[in-house]
Amino acid sequence: MPSHPILLSAPLLVTRRVQAVVAAIALLSVGAAGAQSAGAPVKVGLMLPATGTYASLGTMIENGFKLYVAEQGGKLAGREIQYFRVDDESEPAKATENVNKLVKRDQVDVLVGSVHSGVALGMAKVARDTGTLMIVPNAGADALTGAMCAKNIFRTSFTNWQPAYAMGKVVAERSHKTAMTITWNYAAGLESAKGFVDGFEKGGGKVTQNLTLPFPNVEFQALLTQIAAQKPDAVYAFFAGGGAVKFVKDYAAAGLNKTIPLYGPGFLTDGTLEAQGDAAQGMLTTLHYADNLNTPRDNAFRLNFAKTYKVNADVYAVQGYDAAQLLAVGLKAAGGDIKNMEKVIAGMSSAQIDSPRGKFSLSAGHNPIQDIYLRQVKGKNNELKGMAIKALADPGKGCKM
Ligand code: BEZ
Repeated sequence: MPSHPILLSAPLLVTRRVQAVVAAIALLSVGAAGAQSAGAPVKVGLMLPATGTYASLGTMIENGFKLYVAEQGGKLAGREIQYFRVDDESEPAKATENVNKLVKRDQVDVLVGSVHSGVALGMAKVARDTGTLMIVPNAGADALTGAMCAKNIFRTSFTNWQPAYAMGKVVAERSHKTAMTITWNYAAGLESAKGFVDGFEKGGGKVTQNLTLPFPNVEFQALLTQIAAQKPDAVYAFFAGGGAVKFVKDYAAAGLNKTIPLYGPGFLTDGTLEAQGDAAQGMLTTLHYADNLNTPRDNAFRLNFAKTYKVNADVYAVQGYDAAQLLAVGLKAAGGDIKNMEKVIAGMSSAQIDSPRGKFSLSAGHNPIQDIYLRQVKGKNNELKGMAIKALADPGKGCKM
């Protein structure tokens, strides 16, 4: 049988040609979209306080994050970084609405935030529900890397327990027998006070009373009167930002610093010394950073930070810088593809971060295992006095992944 070419009628031929052109256009646009997402910027959602008592902490974190990105030539693992920002006002009641602006409206690839534990807990719930990658650059809420831990949630700062427990140990070693705690009545303050009690009572001390006032109140007078009346051997206080400035000054103005030594986690004197002046001199605090670590890594970081922002770096700047470092590790592990969450998460989970604070790795719950330093205020610096606890890991209670 002779073979015949298949003959198509004219209208059918036109239809087939149109279909072929449509298919080609579709293919081209899929290719373009793929290429675009491979080269598209990584969207970073910064949810930090820009107003209120923690505003300066938010600025330092953002500057630290951006400094690391700038040091890499503006790209992480070959990808441009695009920033989206929300002022969370350190207001837990607005956390869900605020984080949804970043997740749903802006469709960010990664959330970075926040400072306030209550806000971060609200963010983490949305991050868990939506599977959005989240890096906490400050908030210490124990549950974030404990009972609420998740594969996609990481922290580059601390748990509230870590520096507090270390301070409890130090205060007991300084032969104080009784102590009172004073703090804001929210997760960070309460967990910090609890961490101090753990360390202090394990060392043989006794906490006689825990005093609180609502966040972010700074009317300390009535509570200072109670401290003066009870005369404990020592006081442990958790406050930060503007509240820490006011508390340390009020404590000194009441003359209490002459008779009852005041201790705290380093937040009490980090980023605050300029404003606290004489009132803070000589104070001992514990933290995962100090102003004169004097390592080549830290010196280079501090020099570049000071040159860029015209202020000295503090712990918040370090935590922001390390959030960007951690993201870079994850992106590298995924060949720059932020959508490849499995590889991003695997890379971040096993990261060894060369931090200005010293090298650290992450616990199973994704919290830094880190040295806690004892520091003393001298002039405008929190100077290193010694090691309070080496490579301290938070117990990560209740974390199951
Ligand atoms: C917190 O809310 O977790 C927090 C805020 C400021 C400094 C340290 C911890």
